[in-house]
Amino acid sequence: MSHTESGSVEVVAGDITKVAADAIVNAANSELHAGGGVCGAIFRAAGAEKLARACNELGQCPTGQAAITPAFDIPTAKYIIHAVGPVYASYTPAEARRLLRSAYASALRLGAQHGCKSIALPAISTGIYGYPLESACHEAVDVCSKESVALGLQIKLVAFDAKTADCLRTCLETHTGDDERSAWDG
Ligand code: APR
Repeated sequence: MSHTESGSVEVVAGDITKVAADAIVNAANSELHAGGGVCGAIFRAAGAEKLARACNELGQCPTGQAAITPAFDIPTAKYIIHAVGPVYASYTPAEARRLLRSAYASALRLGAQHGCKSIALPAISTGIYGYPLESACHEAVDVCSKESVALGLQIKLVAFDAKTADCLRTCLETHTGDDERSAWDG
């Protein structure tokens, strides 16, 4: 766990629909439709019909941005923030990186605007969207560390499998705040 006076980032293993936080983040698609992976789990837990109605009212959300709905039947959260990460193969590595960082930052800023103090996020884009795990974890930890301080947030990075948990923990332990990878991975 990385802790400063005004914010913290920790890695939590498990199912994000059961993690206590003011908001949980969905790894969404631009149409804000129900899907598989974490998106499917969140729709089932929130009540698929209610969440689909709320998402339909919002319309589309561009890649790299985020939208917010109530958490409906999820008792451990107030809001669901739908963050759209990039499909890795659809962009250059540099553009995919920019969009992934933007998806994390947009989600956290939107949560802060709605008064959230704690936000739980999955490893956006690392499943169906195919973003290489190590690079994605590095970007997640870097953006979350910076925004946790800037916005005064308690951030939980939620890993559903051991490999992701290990990767996020290593990135968090070795994170320096200098974005040393930017020169070689875009
Ligand atoms: N809690 C936390 N993390 C989860 C859960 C869960 N219940 N279920 C899956 N995950 C993890 C996956 O193991 C992966 O590490 O979330 C991470 C992101 O994987 P995906 O859910 O596949 O998300 P992504 O790669 O961003 O693809 C998004 O998938 O479901 C669709 O609608 C979604 O089209 C969008 C696309």
